[in-house]
Amino acid sequence: MPDEKCVSLTHQSVKFTHRRKIIHRNAVSKFSESSKSRIPILKSRSILSFLLHAFVIDFCARLTTLSDPMAEPKENPLMEKIVSLCKRRGFIFQSSEIYGGINGFWDYGPLGAELKRNVKELWWHAMTRQRDDVAGLEATIIMSPQIWKASGHVDTFADLMVDCPSCKKRYRADQIEPQSGRIYRCEGAEGFPVETSGPTTPIKPFFGLADETKKKKVNYSYAALIPFGKPIESGRQRAKDFFFRRELNSPNPIGERFDEDIKDSIKFCSDPQCGTELSTPRPFNLMFKTFVGPVESDDNVAYLRPETAQAIFAQFKNVLETSRQRVPFGIAQVGKAFRNEVTPRNFTFRSREFEQMELEFFIKPDEVIEAIHGSVATLETPDPKSKTPDPQPNWGWQAWHQYWVEERVRFYEGIGLDRSTLGFHVQTPAELAHYARACTDILFKFPFSKKDESGNVAGDELEGIAARSDFDLSQHQRFSGKPMGVFDDELRAAWAKLPKEKQDDLWKRYYDNRKNYLTKSAKPGETVEQISKQATDDANGLAKGQYIPHVIEPSAGVDRLILALIANAYSEITETDDKGKSETRVTMKFHPRVAPFKAGIFPLLKNKPELVKKAQEVRELLRPWMNVFYDEGGSIGKRYARQDEAGTPFCVTIDFDTLGEKPELLDTVTIRYRDDGKQERLKISELLDFLLSKTR
Ligand code: GAP
Repeated sequence: MPDEKCVSLTHQSVKFTHRRKIIHRNAVSKFSESSKSRIPILKSRSILSFLLHAFVIDFCARLTTLSDPMAEPKENPLMEKIVSLCKRRGFIFQSSEIYGGINGFWDYGPLGAELKRNVKELWWHAMTRQRDDVAGLEATIIMSPQIWKASGHVDTFADLMVDCPSCKKRYRADQIEPQSGRIYRCEGAEGFPVETSGPTTPIKPFFGLADETKKKKVNYSYAALIPFGKPIESGRQRAKDFFFRRELNSPNPIGERFDEDIKDSIKFCSDPQCGTELSTPRPFNLMFKTFVGPVESDDNVAYLRPETAQAIFAQFKNVLETSRQRVPFGIAQVGKAFRNEVTPRNFTFRSREFEQMELEFFIKPDEVIEAIHGSVATLETPDPKSKTPDPQPNWGWQAWHQYWVEERVRFYEGIGLDRSTLGFHVQTPAELAHYARACTDILFKFPFSKKDESGNVAGDELEGIAARSDFDLSQHQRFSGKPMGVFDDELRAAWAKLPKEKQDDLWKRYYDNRKNYLTKSAKPGETVEQISKQATDDANGLAKGQYIPHVIEPSAGVDRLILALIANAYSEITETDDKGKSETRVTMKFHPRVAPFKAGIFPLLKNKPELVKKAQEVRELLRPWMNVFYDEGGSIGKRYARQDEAGTPFCVTIDFDTLGEKPELLDTVTIRYRDDGKQERLKISELLDFLLSKTR
């Protein structure tokens, strides 16, 4: 009996990812990367010293391996299977694999490249071509550094980071695994100085007779958390390792204390062999820096974009003027983004180079809607079973925000992610960026997503839908000196007809909002009077029909979506034959829309030229319309299995009946469905329409 076993998602591992917190400028200090442990090069003079060398080199190599940045945590069986399938079948490879890989960078193989292309095209189609109110943009990755000044990324796009001073592991402060145990402490150590061969390679073994007069004391302390159940004395060995790595041969800890018990602490290295107390958190800017032109000076610094959104804001006016759009309308962009993540993790989930699909949807401020329509409409929670409501002219930002959350969920449903696989995280006011009014994250229940206390899996972020107010356009207006506002005839006409009290009320509300923004974003030296004058000018502009549009931003990660689709599609079937031998086969149950190949085309036998010729004709018939895979190697069963693993939803076999062995079946083929293995006969003349109807 085939045992349909879709491997249950295991949720033992790992870190919940919070939306990145922007760190305030004042908290930012200069960060210099600490050097990695290096293997010392020693001049040995004897066999003993040679052996000692070998030991030290081996020891250091082990240390290096322990902190190997490529090592994925081996704690999630399903993730391990997925990672291995991705490599075996050519979905995803480690970047630069032949050189040992580079942490946080991934390449998409033949199947992955098709899957990714399909996803991006479906998004582009749904967000731009299927709508009248969205235009597209394709901007450069490197832009004026002023853009990143204005957006706040230069000063505040940072993660808090902590280091382990002993094993040199680096963690994001909000991702440290809580640890429990007993604390071992010492005040310092005494030992023999290591002869250093450079400031960062102090490890040199000590051997021979000790010259006590050369003994040295260091008085910086050391602490480690020893897990319950392990002897607290093991702290002494960890301390010795620590001082040895830093500067002392044969170190003896001094002022030892076997301290208090502690639970769920995030102050210690989570490597069970280490457990050393971590450094205090410090901010680390995530933008990759480079230089434009041949001179590497501060004047030529540029950044690889950390999000695609800012180009959209910077080109807002150009797109508005050339696309004949009017607010409300959106600008969509798909493209690469780069973040020097402190701890890339969970396969492609958190990478250093990734792709985003972002829409900046520009809307009228609520005061404008109220002036034109009398009131601002809100939205009932849309019923998932009925159509998303059509946008209305009197919608305020809340209705638009809700609309886009619902639209995006429906997009995911349309490519095979059922609502039950998704979750939501509505950001609390404390989590929101200072300019944001609301943000709802759409989550996917990844195999590594954590369970909460009640055993439920919320999921990890796939996409964030933020209401960003008029912050971004206002910032670019202030930094570039170019107006980012729009003029609205309808507003000017409506304003003139409003009663005085209503005008005053709207004026005051708009003034307060602008003043609030201007105060929070004040440049050094800007006075209260200047801010009030600017807010007054802005509110007076409203009365003349001018305003800066607000923004709703659905921002999705392509790579996370690919990983979600792969995890969602992965299913195993274990079959046991008559002799009791069981075999597990993988089927990737991709939605036909995203599947890398839409159909496999097989001649029944490769040594029958008539069958091969007919099969190739079928391939040529389908090829202009969809990606198909022609395969004549091995048994039909093997060919089905290969396509199941690639996620191909349909297989088409050309056999002797196709050639007319049974006259009534002339020019028909067998079509086999991936998910249930059912087969039926179809006329070749109907094949294209059939496949198009299933895969579009
Ligand atoms: N413009 C808004 C913005 O960039 P974000 O939440 O930082 O917001 C949006 O990123 C989306 O980009 C995320 O929901 C995620 O899907 C994707 N993303 C962000 N950082 C990523 C990373 N390091 N690796 C892969 N995808 C990432």
